[in-house]
Amino acid sequence: MMTDIRSLLAHWEKSGRIEHVREEVDPEYELAAIVRRGRGKKPYYFHKIKGYRVPMVSGLGGDRGMLAESMDIGVRDLVPKLIDAIVTPIPTRRVDRGPVQENVVTDRIVLDELFPICKYHKDDSGRYLVSGVLVVKQKDGSKRYTSIRRMQYLGGNRASILISSPELFRQYKEYEQENAPMEVAIMFGVVPAVILASQISTHLYHRDKLDVAGALLGQSLEVVPCRTVDLEVLSEAEVVLEGRMLPHVREQEGPFGELGGYYGDRTPQPIVELSAITFRNDPIWQTIYPSGFEEHTPMAIAREAVLLSTVRQVVPDVLDVHLTPGGIGRYHAVISIDKQSEGDAKQACLAAFASDKDLKHVVVVDKDVNIFDAEDVEWAIATRVQADLDVFIVPGAKGSPLEPSHQLRGVSAKMGIDATYPTSAAEAYRRTSVVVNGVPERGA
Ligand SMILES: Cc1cc2nc3c(=O)[nH]c(=O)nc-3n(C[C@H](O)[C@H](O)[C@H](O)COP(=O)(O)O)c2cc1C
Repeated sequence: MMTDIRSLLAHWEKSGRIEHVREEVDPEYELAAIVRRGRGKKPYYFHKIKGYRVPMVSGLGGDRGMLAESMDIGVRDLVPKLIDAIVTPIPTRRVDRGPVQENVVTDRIVLDELFPICKYHKDDSGRYLVSGVLVVKQKDGSKRYTSIRRMQYLGGNRASILISSPELFRQYKEYEQENAPMEVAIMFGVVPAVILASQISTHLYHRDKLDVAGALLGQSLEVVPCRTVDLEVLSEAEVVLEGRMLPHVREQEGPFGELGGYYGDRTPQPIVELSAITFRNDPIWQTIYPSGFEEHTPMAIAREAVLLSTVRQVVPDVLDVHLTPGGIGRYHAVISIDKQSEGDAKQACLAAFASDKDLKHVVVVDKDVNIFDAEDVEWAIATRVQADLDVFIVPGAKGSPLEPSHQLRGVSAKMGIDATYPTSAAEAYRRTSVVVNGVPERGA
């Protein structure tokens, strides 16, 4: 199993799937412009970054097929596999030393002397680190959490950090109340399974997400103790930043191009002060293009796992769910059901809205529609929906604070679309087929 990015890159190299960029690339704007062309779905390997000796990779986990392949499973197994991994995680193994600590810097830390920090969008407020997997421990030391939080580099050993989810912010506040710093470690250059596992919600599962990543990869992952903080990190990560989130210190952060493709607000955010940088020999630095598939896909799959489980409680014959790329993996869901009786589709919409406040529009289709094919879904809407009967709107429910179309931030209308046909009229909805080598194949 490929537990480090070196073996994953070697695997993709064999099938010629890595786009090598051998010319010098500027980390300011140019690198992002190149990666954006692949939309976060294509792995890029940058050999020469202007001003640096380290190579850089991006686009390792944005394509669902490649993400599944990195875990040695089929693409349709991603959501069931994640659900299984949450239910039966495989605990990490602690070892004394590992490759990520082949080099340790604790004196005079100036992060951008060692690693390039990119500027992504035209109007971003500065240079950002967007792909680091943050490791923290609950204050009583009992639980470890990982998540991804962007950091705006402030020079030397300082960066601001954006924490939008309530659970981690609550933990940070607990430290702050005691005027104590919260220890953090941030891992770069980890396999897509680690990133995917980091996206499951702490407040739902309270799982150690490195253990979940282990289950996704079918083996226990090795962790090593950090050098300057009481945390553990993956021994096969490429680079780790160790540090502390300071209590009662904030600096302005943003605007930055958010996942929806708009600039976010400028707001005061906490600060991390680095106490160590550790890295492998010949480290490979990694980034993710924000608002591309590499950001949307792991978030979407983690949300699909919740969606599938919740809808299944209400409509047992739900077959699959998809948070569509056009809906940035967050606002639009398509759900396929094996409809047993009238009302099932609207019930599935209601369950979906209850499961995820960020959902705005949900379409429910019959089992003959491919929910991963936007054209097929539109075909179902075109041929099976009467707006006065099949569409319902719930005004003024909770929504995503990141979404700008609300009149009131965080309040959103919900629209459900029942694109299933009436069970009593099945004959009128029989899809045409053609015959290929004696086998029927869909005609439309
Ligand atoms: C590439 C990428 C960048 C992300 N950046 C941020 C961020 O800057 N701030 C944030 O709060 N969440 C960010 N997220 C989402 C969180 O990582 C995710 O919501 C969190 O891990 C969920 O876990 P939690 O419930 O333990 O907080 C990002 C996700 C990805 C995939």
